[in-house]
Amino acid sequence: MQTGVIAAPVTYSIKGEQYVAVLAGWGGVWALAPGILSEIAGPVRNVSRLLVYRLGGSARLPPESPVTRPPLDPPAATGTAEQIAAGGRQYGRFCGGCHGDAAYGSTVLPDLRRSALIVDGKAWASVVHDGALRNRGMAGFARVLSPEQIESIRRYVIKRANEDEALEDK
Ligand code: HEC
Repeated sequence: MQTGVIAAPVTYSIKGEQYVAVLAGWGGVWALAPGILSEIAGPVRNVSRLLVYRLGGSARLPPESPVTRPPLDPPAATGTAEQIAAGGRQYGRFCGGCHGDAAYGSTVLPDLRRSALIVDGKAWASVVHDGALRNRGMAGFARVLSPEQIESIRRYVIKRANEDEALEDK
């Protein structure tokens, strides 16, 4: 199927021939939240499509394209240990459900360790505080997080990116 399947299958028959249809696609909490755990079988791409099978069917899927990710190339970690730890707690509470446990991102949403925005506190705040990407599903967090907390989260993500780069877990 070249992707995950989360929806339930359905089966039906037409003129005595049985078909099994699945709405294939990767997303939802298991793809997003558990970070590295959701990649135990390797990274899975989202390819949204309806696949229908029958005995003796001969159609083939088009060739599978590889998973491509931006490089893991973070700036050097900065900030005090307290700031980074506080950022980690806020990350877990407000960000990890979509961007992955410990900032280990999925193939579905931006992997923040690889985001170009981590190098620039102002660009980061324009998204995370001001909501520059709200029309694309990334809300601004100004109502619940202070600019300092949002900056702490950035430092935490940079720290995590450096740890994974050192492990060559790219
Ligand atoms: C409900 C899900 C959700 C939550 C929670 C969430 N995000 Fe996002 N975030 C998104 C989506 C969806 C995008 C992709 C928007 C797009 O397609 O441009 C995104 C994009 C981003 C980007 C842009 C990355 C890039 O390189 O384009 C940043 C930075 C970001 N999020 C940071 C955060 C931070 C920090 C938090 C926690 C305070 C957070 N997000 C919480 C869904 C979420």
